[in-house]
Amino acid sequence: MSHGEAYAVVKGRVPAAEEKQSLYQQAAEALKGMLAGETESVLIMGTIAAVLHQSMPHYFWTGFYRVVGEELLVGSYQGTPACLRIAHGRGVCGSAWAEARTMLVRDVHAFPGHIACDARSASEIVVPWRDASGAVVAVLDVDSDQKAAFDEIDQKWLERLARDFPLA
Ligand code: SME
Repeated sequence: MSHGEAYAVVKGRVPAAEEKQSLYQQAAEALKGMLAGETESVLIMGTIAAVLHQSMPHYFWTGFYRVVGEELLVGSYQGTPACLRIAHGRGVCGSAWAEARTMLVRDVHAFPGHIACDARSASEIVVPWRDASGAVVAVLDVDSDQKAAFDEIDQKWLERLARDFPLA
């Protein structure tokens, strides 16, 4: 089975609302097909990160941090090498975990405590990911090198993916 040919994204621009909707629609359908019946967490995280990163022109860094004890540890991701460990409540990721809600940051330089793993990151969205019991077991972190790249459309689709593909 081959999936690669469908992905030829050119990075560095923020799609307008209509295009964004359609890119998420296609990515969600691709993931539904690829992940049908799958329950293994690393497989799910790696596939979601790959499909999203290779679909979206405004995604600069795309990946999961897993909850391990009192920290988030970097997991499956696409992009430049990232910070390995994030404490509970620290940065955008640690805040999304602590508050169990999506953090939409239009300007990372205006977010107190933002952790800069790559100085090119300009805006960010972090979505909590749960297991079947509803516990937050990871967060999906997406950074853009474009300012204000993420909005309610990204939030709606990523939260929908989190509901559709819970982790173990
Ligand atoms: N910026 C994040 C850290 C993770 S990296 O962006 C990959 C934060 O403030 O939590």
